[in-house]
Amino acid sequence: MQKHLVKKGYIKENIINDGNSFLLANGHLGYRGTLEEYDKAQLVSLNLVGVYDQYQDKWRESINLPNPFFIKCFVDGKEISVLKEKPLSHFLSLDLTKGYLSRHTEFSQIIINSKRFVSHKNDSLLSEKYDVTAKEDVQLSIIFGLDTDIYEINGPHFQKENIKRNKNVILFNGMTNEGKDLYLSYFHNVKGYEEYQKSLYKKDIHLNKGEKFSFVIFAIVEEERKDDIRKITASGFNHLLKEHCDAFFEKYSQAHIEIKGDKKADLAMRFSLYQLLSAGDANRCRGIPARGCSGQTYKGAIFWDSEMFLIPFYALTNPIVARNSLIYRINTLSGAMAKAKEFGYQGAFYAWESQDSGLEACSKYNVTDPKTGAPIRTYFNEKQIHISADIVYAFDKYIEVTGDSEILNEGGLEVIYQCALFFLSYAKKVDGKWHIYDVIGPDEYHERINDNAFTNYLTKYAVQTVIKYLKDKKVNPQSLHVDDINKLEDFANNLCLLNIKDSVIEQFDGYFALEDVSLSDLRKRIKDPKEYWGGEYGVASHTKIIKQADVCALIALFDKEFNSDIKEANFAYYYPKTEHGSSLSSGMYSRLAFRLSHVKEGYEMFKKSAEIDIVGSQKIYAGGIYIGGTHIASSGGAYLSLLYGCLGFSYNGEQIYLDPHLPKTFKEITMNIKFRKKKYVITVHKNGSYTIKERQDD
Ligand code: BGC
Repeated sequence: MQKHLVKKGYIKENIINDGNSFLLANGHLGYRGTLEEYDKAQLVSLNLVGVYDQYQDKWRESINLPNPFFIKCFVDGKEISVLKEKPLSHFLSLDLTKGYLSRHTEFSQIIINSKRFVSHKNDSLLSEKYDVTAKEDVQLSIIFGLDTDIYEINGPHFQKENIKRNKNVILFNGMTNEGKDLYLSYFHNVKGYEEYQKSLYKKDIHLNKGEKFSFVIFAIVEEERKDDIRKITASGFNHLLKEHCDAFFEKYSQAHIEIKGDKKADLAMRFSLYQLLSAGDANRCRGIPARGCSGQTYKGAIFWDSEMFLIPFYALTNPIVARNSLIYRINTLSGAMAKAKEFGYQGAFYAWESQDSGLEACSKYNVTDPKTGAPIRTYFNEKQIHISADIVYAFDKYIEVTGDSEILNEGGLEVIYQCALFFLSYAKKVDGKWHIYDVIGPDEYHERINDNAFTNYLTKYAVQTVIKYLKDKKVNPQSLHVDDINKLEDFANNLCLLNIKDSVIEQFDGYFALEDVSLSDLRKRIKDPKEYWGGEYGVASHTKIIKQADVCALIALFDKEFNSDIKEANFAYYYPKTEHGSSLSSGMYSRLAFRLSHVKEGYEMFKKSAEIDIVGSQKIYAGGIYIGGTHIASSGGAYLSLLYGCLGFSYNGEQIYLDPHLPKTFKEITMNIKFRKKKYVITVHKNGSYTIKERQDD
């Protein structure tokens, strides 16, 4: 079993993707996998998840802090850096089960080694140990400290900065444009240093051949100033690293997966697991952004990715993180209700891009023309109403998998009830049938369409779920009106559902009449590689080419509700028409393909989804807007595809079932899960036989 992601050799073109692959994070802080000699040009970022700020009229986004791991080496006055010369050897190695990063870079005169972590024991802490070894006698100078020249997408976010230095401790206090104070304490253990510029230090040292110079850096990020960094770190780097590794490994063990017989798939899945475990916050209810903890892309906002791709993973492995993400939706209900009101509806219309208050962060012009920079009108914020149904889905699945229905009494029931009321006010009844007009489904290239199969199906399911819980519960939402249940029942019973022709579900009303062009022919019409394919004038908008799984996502999610003819026909029809322009697509197709025994396609899409941030294959521009970073929903999609698709996991009450369809290369799969408060180890063999054993503890 390979426990490390290792990339050997230095390739400048991979700087951005390596920053994603080697990200260290704990749900609260994220530090990109960048090298010490880098600065904002290489997208170095220490991202504070879930704390937002707006600069002037730019997009409001999460905050990046100064970089505590800034270090530059000079030999005889000449800078030694991968940016200046090709190293003789170089590798980065990420321990996927313990969560720390090691670097080794050899130049002609010196060798650099470093080790760093973002703690899972104390989630305000990050630390690094840095060594330089001389290959010959050298006069070494090291410049290190806090780099306050921060990489920002829509910044600067600190209107005031105050830097106090007291010997080897620096306290950075920044006040955001919105008036929030944030603190970063920095501490190093170098002896005989000089103070250099406002937040940097310099150390000059002569090293004889073979001699090594080592030092350690600690940083603490706080929203309220309380702790002395020297006290917190008094036990030293090795001790704090061990505490972190133990805490990370405990999380990993609850979610452990091993795929025997296929090293690449095994490593890709473990990497996805690493990314998922790094993004979960067990201590705060802030929600998990679409790009995890990897930076400010997508404004650091929370999308439906959380409900459909992440919460179902955490519910089975680390339920407290799933719960926190749902509590985040409870805490932001007022924002969702304010949004509904703003657009003239009732109930809760959750934000397409949600930040701390739940108000909509998605702008009317969310992409730009890459050539002219002109904003392109998009309707994601106003029309992607399936988000409110996705939230009901996540509550329901969380309760089914964990048995924790108490969350309904803590505000969950109010949330899902308000979502149902929103649908009643959005939908229109025409000739006895309810319709949902003017929406965008998961395929964002087709805007303002009517009766999208995914949206309508999810909405019906959401409304039925709400009725189920309202009838079940002794406690009802305060705002429940006597005739609401009747109205909801009428809606669920009379909602226009699926238009099926030759077993193919029409994605939305009128879709079958669109131009039938192949993906390769459509690509020939593109004038700029970064061009946006959707919106009013996009190349895909008037064709059948879709951005991501839409009808097939619906079938993958509700596997038991569609017969095999429908599944086959829709997979065959939509798969070739899908661009996979969103990283969310492959996991859904993979899940469906496995259920159909199309093991080859299932396997290919699974691999694509799981290794996305190892290989860096995804688009990083939507029009002119940078959308790079880690694709955490793709990691979640890979996990769900392996469990629900490949292993055919399902349940009825307390009972678990499997129906495996394994790719040829898989000799055995082991997965640790939690289900209804019990821990299980699932083992599936090549011949399809399996065991489901209860684990007492690891
Ligand atoms: C996808 C959305 C997704 C968002 C964030 C977009 O490209 O189309 O479905 O929620 O990215 O991941």
